[in-house]
Amino acid sequence: MAEEPKPNDLWYPDKQTVRRSHVKDYDALRARAATDLVAFWEERAKELKWFKRWTKVLDDSNKPFFKWFVGAKTNIVHNALDRHLATPTRNKLALIWEGENGDLRTFSYFALAREVCRFANVLKSMGVNKGDRVTIYLPRIPELPIAMLACAKIGAVHSVVYGGFSVESLHGRIEDSESRVLVTADGGYMRGKAINLKAIADEALQRAGTVEHVIVVRRTKEKVNMEVGRDYYYDELMALPMSRAGTNGRCPTEVMDAEDPLFLLYTSGTTGRPKAIIHTHGGYQVGVATTLKYAFDMKPEDRYWCAADPGWITGHSYIVYGPLILGATSMMYEGAPTYPYPDRWWRIVENYGISILYTAPTAIRGLMRFGESWANRHDLSTLRLLGTVGEPINPEAWRWYHRVIGKARCPIIDTWWQTETGMFMITPVPSFPLKPGSGTKPFPGIQAEVLDEEGNPVKAGEEGKLVITTPWPAMLRGIYKDPERYVQQYWSTYPGKYLTGDSAKIDEDGYFWIIGRVDDVIKVSGYRLGTAEIESALVSHPAVSEAAAIGMPHEVRGNCIYAYVILRAGQTATPQLVDELAQHVAREIGPIAKPEKVEIVTSLPKTRSGKIMRRLLKARAQGLPEGDVSTLEE
Ligand code: WTA
Repeated sequence: MAEEPKPNDLWYPDKQTVRRSHVKDYDALRARAATDLVAFWEERAKELKWFKRWTKVLDDSNKPFFKWFVGAKTNIVHNALDRHLATPTRNKLALIWEGENGDLRTFSYFALAREVCRFANVLKSMGVNKGDRVTIYLPRIPELPIAMLACAKIGAVHSVVYGGFSVESLHGRIEDSESRVLVTADGGYMRGKAINLKAIADEALQRAGTVEHVIVVRRTKEKVNMEVGRDYYYDELMALPMSRAGTNGRCPTEVMDAEDPLFLLYTSGTTGRPKAIIHTHGGYQVGVATTLKYAFDMKPEDRYWCAADPGWITGHSYIVYGPLILGATSMMYEGAPTYPYPDRWWRIVENYGISILYTAPTAIRGLMRFGESWANRHDLSTLRLLGTVGEPINPEAWRWYHRVIGKARCPIIDTWWQTETGMFMITPVPSFPLKPGSGTKPFPGIQAEVLDEEGNPVKAGEEGKLVITTPWPAMLRGIYKDPERYVQQYWSTYPGKYLTGDSAKIDEDGYFWIIGRVDDVIKVSGYRLGTAEIESALVSHPAVSEAAAIGMPHEVRGNCIYAYVILRAGQTATPQLVDELAQHVAREIGPIAKPEKVEIVTSLPKTRSGKIMRRLLKARAQGLPEGDVSTLEE
């Protein structure tokens, strides 16, 4: 059995892992790809099916509006479902789903394709056309990937809103995307309780005027408000003949341009409201399939479990599209890792024989608290590879994951990437030596640098800003309805280079170490939130005149939120009001955004130009030196 590494030690995989891996010599492959990025991605694209091949792999004539696989015709669903139906994969399990309450549902590729066709026909019957946006607001149930795939199949653009978000987050996203159809559910189970999503959706719909039809999946079967002429039950629509469209439940897959949009996914940026990142059919499928195959070394016999929510990019790329394109069997679990006991996940690994587990450091730290005996009472010997994503993994969590879950046998694939990148950007492969806490090196075909303020690469071991210097196929194609912001936010700080928003170091061995966000984005339990959203939720409360939010280090969640609030004249600071303000944020954005602490203050530190100095608030809250305060207004 391999030795457990100390921080900064190299951990070498055993010979068998190397021998069996898709990629045996990572550095050699990286070097080969670097000599001709375009040729590397073209070779990968040829492994997928296209209705018509491209005339040009990369069009960089209008930077930073890059285009990939120009002239190609495709549809991601053709690769994720249709093509498997002509192979033995047709009868393989695509999805195994377990509800928090113990319900079990499984779908073969054939069954999943049928469900997707029927729901696609339902959407069409409601007048959803190619290019229309559909908002999906569902718990972690199979209808979530089904609805996404159904949209993609008919060329509609899905906009999934994470089921843990609340009224204002949902409203803002529906309105910005101008969706006419909303797919939601009566609710879902979380920690033994039924969460009524329909009630939240109803409230959001009162604020947003674009939605004409609401499709409601019955999960909890609790009674919900159904508005006549607007709201329809999913199961009732699926039972109607129109879902079969007179053709035995089939639905043709729309022929799309490689550059046609596949989905919008809202994410928090530096300023203002969350913005919709655009991803497309062509390049995205090449990026997610290649990265999943190489980094997680996906094999036909694997049982793969990405424990994220499909409502975030991790779920889009690595629960829904990536695994299906590779013909893999995926696990999906509805609820909390600790319900009813803290061994729920380990029970799932044992019961279903999971071989690859992909999760976030916050979940590992959360489960670590309960001690290793919960994991030790289960047979975890089917695991061969572990993955992590969302925030830097601290050495304690890395070692626990490695020793207690991976039995010091499984490599830990630490994948750094973003909603915008669509796919893994910095990651090891299982044959590559690891350092706990480092994502090792950029994926083949990806060029990354760490720069100082002037744009020069920093020396080994020094901190700087992480940038990507060349385009990649799954890259965002822009921000919906805001091309200027796309250019300004990502491509202007260092002209021609993509700014990630993270700081990082590269060590003497060329290994990358991500330090964290250097903008106003806060990662709470791996979820991405913006100070601006939290502040605008606070000032939407009648008692509040001004607010500032900052991220503070938190042992389990990585970061938590502290909020500072100035009250309107005539309001008095009471413990009840403080509590109400925290609740208000949870109600508007979602429970993940609820501040750990709300402090009522009479002034906020600002620069002379009126910008809140969050850095100063943070230093003060942590009892650290205040640094340069020369711009502070008197
Ligand atoms: C952070 C999630 C360290 C980072 C896929 C990034 C990470 C942001 C890692 C994107 C990792 C993601 N190590 N930090 N392995 N993976 N991050 O858009 O700050 O929700 O910029 O995408 O998460 O968050 P997003």
